[in-house]
Amino acid sequence: MAVDLLLGLQWGDEGKGKIVDVLTENYDIIARFQGGPNAGHTLEFDGIKHILHTIPSGIFHKNAVNVVGNGVVIDPVIFKKELDALKKFNLDIKSKLLISRKAHLILPTHRLLDAASEASKGKAKIGSTLKGIGPTYMDKTGRNGMRIGDLELSDWKEKYRNLANKHEAMIGFYNVDIQYNLAELESDFFKSIEELKELTFIDSEEYLYQAQKKGKKILAEGAQGSLLDIDFGTYPYVTSSNTTAAGACTGLGVAPNQIGGVKGIFKAYATRVGSGPFPTELFDKDGETMGRVGNEFGATTGRPRRCGWLDLVALKYAVRINGVTELMMMKGDVLSGFKKLKVCTAYNYKGEKITHLPYNIEAENVTPIYTEMKGWEADLTKMTKKEQLPDNLMAYIDFLEKELEVPIKIVSVGPDRTQTIHR
Ligand code: IMP
Repeated sequence: MAVDLLLGLQWGDEGKGKIVDVLTENYDIIARFQGGPNAGHTLEFDGIKHILHTIPSGIFHKNAVNVVGNGVVIDPVIFKKELDALKKFNLDIKSKLLISRKAHLILPTHRLLDAASEASKGKAKIGSTLKGIGPTYMDKTGRNGMRIGDLELSDWKEKYRNLANKHEAMIGFYNVDIQYNLAELESDFFKSIEELKELTFIDSEEYLYQAQKKGKKILAEGAQGSLLDIDFGTYPYVTSSNTTAAGACTGLGVAPNQIGGVKGIFKAYATRVGSGPFPTELFDKDGETMGRVGNEFGATTGRPRRCGWLDLVALKYAVRINGVTELMMMKGDVLSGFKKLKVCTAYNYKGEKITHLPYNIEAENVTPIYTEMKGWEADLTKMTKKEQLPDNLMAYIDFLEKELEVPIKIVSVGPDRTQTIHR
């Protein structure tokens, strides 16, 4: 049985959490493959809104097993808070949530290093969520990291101390004013680790291999979006993992020839949180309306998201890099009431018209070239069938499908599980 992927195609916040939750009834296993608590996956059902950071978005479905893969980085303190928030749902966490021994741990000093690094960058800061993601992946690739499996060994505290001491010295090198009380942070960290150790640690690549052999249906859940990919995103304004399809292979131990459908999620417009280039960004009333109606605030940091028109140059790039086989369009409802909509179909790049994503998309190099489309008035949020969707929205969808050469299978018309139209 092939493993399906679900990925964000823009700068994150496309609505992956909602769609994984909607799709979980078709899967036996949901497996997160990269990122960490920089993610905020929002799910709404039965009048409850829930935000997950590290735990896969299939956790609320009784029959699904949720795997935190080797490619994920885990902060025990945040993980404990996530578990606490789940307690009232009476889920069987011990058997339904499995954690890879090869997943790396975010230490308190990783968070401090993140803060020191950002503070030292001044205006050039990445706009990191400051969850310690970059420094943890640096230790992973630098072969210094601590992994979940280390917690089963007797000398893990010694390993921790050596790494934390090294981090403290590194913080000193940044020469910035970072106030912290490490003893307090460590007390929280060690308490949270004790709780983490109550959970089930597995060799997840073996578990997934055996599950596949038994015919179990697996969905790999991505975090962030393709334009934040460490290799293919708008570097250096990116996160520190491979958010694209290949990341699911390395982040779960699934071979490339075992990948089945690739489900790509995008918003009907575009948003970005943090710094970095964003060619179609709006600084006018339209952008303000998208932000207000779309409630565009970071689920993890609460920061307002920058908003702009849909960028098809960037979206085509993401579709190709990931090999997307079906698309899901989110938040079409937010565009209701716009008289005209714009879609960026090419860039003016240093005076030349181009339709591919170039190396450098800073505002001084790139001006978007737009195609205008008619908007629609109708409120979509109560619609349940594709036949109810307004003609101008259907024309918008048809146009995108032609440009992207991939079918749009789901149109989401609101945050709730039920506000999902299948086509
Ligand atoms: P970091 O991964 O926390 O270091 O953040 C690096 C960049 O990725 C910043 O611009 C963040 O705002 C952005 N980012 C990280 N995680 C997410 C996410 O889940 N959604 C949207 N943006 C994110």
